Amino acid sequence: MSKFYITTPIYYVNDKPHIGGAYTTIAADVLSRWHRMRGDDTFFLTGVDEHGQKIAQAAREQNMTPQQLCDQNAAKFQQVFDTLKISYDRFIRTTEKPHEKMVSHVLNTIQNKNLIYSGTYSGLYCVGCERYYTSKELTDGKCPLHHKKPITLSENCYFFKLSAFQKPLLRLIDTNEWVIEPEERKNEVMGFLKSETLEDLAISREKVEWGIPIPWERSQSIYVWIDALFNYLSGIDWDGKNKKMPDYWPPDVQLIGKDILRFHAIIWPAFLLSLDIPLPKLLYAHGFFTVGGQKMSKSLGNVLDPEELATTFGPDALRWLLLSEFPFGQDGDISLSKFYDKYNADLSHGVGNLVRRTIALALKYKGAIEPPKAIDVDFKQMIEKAWKIYEGALDDLKFETAIGAINDIVTFCDKYIDSSEPWRLSSDDKQYQTIVYNLLEVLRHLSWLIYPFMPKKSNVLFQLLGLKTETKKSLSLGKQWGKVEFNNISQGDILFPQL
Ligand code: MSP
Repeated sequence: MSKFYITTPIYYVNDKPHIGGAYTTIAADVLSRWHRMRGDDTFFLTGVDEHGQKIAQAAREQNMTPQQLCDQNAAKFQQVFDTLKISYDRFIRTTEKPHEKMVSHVLNTIQNKNLIYSGTYSGLYCVGCERYYTSKELTDGKCPLHHKKPITLSENCYFFKLSAFQKPLLRLIDTNEWVIEPEERKNEVMGFLKSETLEDLAISREKVEWGIPIPWERSQSIYVWIDALFNYLSGIDWDGKNKKMPDYWPPDVQLIGKDILRFHAIIWPAFLLSLDIPLPKLLYAHGFFTVGGQKMSKSLGNVLDPEELATTFGPDALRWLLLSEFPFGQDGDISLSKFYDKYNADLSHGVGNLVRRTIALALKYKGAIEPPKAIDVDFKQMIEKAWKIYEGALDDLKFETAIGAINDIVTFCDKYIDSSEPWRLSSDDKQYQTIVYNLLEVLRHLSWLIYPFMPKKSNVLFQLLGLKTETKKSLSLGKQWGKVEFNNISQGDILFPQL
């Protein structure tokens, strides 16, 4: 059995669950469900980032302790993830004691290797981002994210010798030992490493009351970003000391948004190299979306709320819509009106309508619908081809291609129904039963295929087909054509009511 360890970023606990974060998490969930369905020993880690000045400040403003604020908001994230059918195996919170202990151990180890030294840092600091900016990175002298002027800050702190890792990182990325995808993002990191001199990294702050103290100088606490990166290790219960890494290590996929590429493509692997820990197999940075052609913003009133969207379309359909609108690695655009159109086209008129038509035809025949003596080769080949495209697409994180393969099956069947005109035949006719069998068998395959994207609808469809135990089968059995008999079919509620 292969293992599959997948991570998302951990989200700032004082923010509201955002459609951008939901996008990353849904994508990770689809991959996790796909790997579980295929029999891989899967571990899906997500969670929240709970330290830092911003959180202490937000707690003060709400008359709470930071821990109370974290508890309250972490629960909110979990609730939204439940709504979105996120099947994480572990929801990590960076205020958990084992995480804090692990980070302390790791810092001691890096310090003992002479890769940490004390100094003074002075720079342009954005409180919103909790990070320093170089003047080059600012837009008109302002933080590109918060549009506020950063403050000049000077403080004693500890530095990590990040500069020592510039050459090793370049080599590892160049030789694909450290894989960053898509290609564009890899080139971005390579370009940066080739053209800029990597400076040592300030890793601690003075007077941040809500953070993990530097073990040998407790007046300093570790920079929240560094603390957060180590969640990928504490999330699988590594204690920071044991020489043997947990079996899930290294991650097979680390999914992030392109905004946090440098943290994950440069700083994170440098820390791992400093600890002699193998690097993750793949770092994949997806694109950003605009809404109706514009950046999402409160003032424009175009902010999409994941919970509201799940109420409108249902969580299953929302997952499908978000991942089908544009290629995963690229930037794209979404909008409510596009969601309505796509919902009606793919789901209500597409999959949903095929289910309704097929079951209505099947119910006209009273007996069990058995595999025909001569298997329909066209159908068998069509389904085998669809599976091939679908599997390759999910392995390459091309969600939209996998969804396209499902839509193509539906189109094939709609044409087949129209051309074979089963309503002209008597239900006792062998030909009628073959047509219905082919269509039911397609629906069974569709239930498997839609599962990673729409887990609840997939289960409903299996039930309508009278195949409640189908998911207990291995995928390789499930993928076979023409072996199953249908004898307990029912027409339930409409799967995707038209909106
Ligand atoms: N806490 C850090 C990550 C630490 S990981 C060791 C952080 N958190 S975040 O909540 O701000 O963002 C996490 C991820 O959510 C980002 O990769 C980002 O792509 C996604 N999004 C969060 N807000 C977003 C938008 N406004 N738009 C699109 N995606 C966004 O960064």
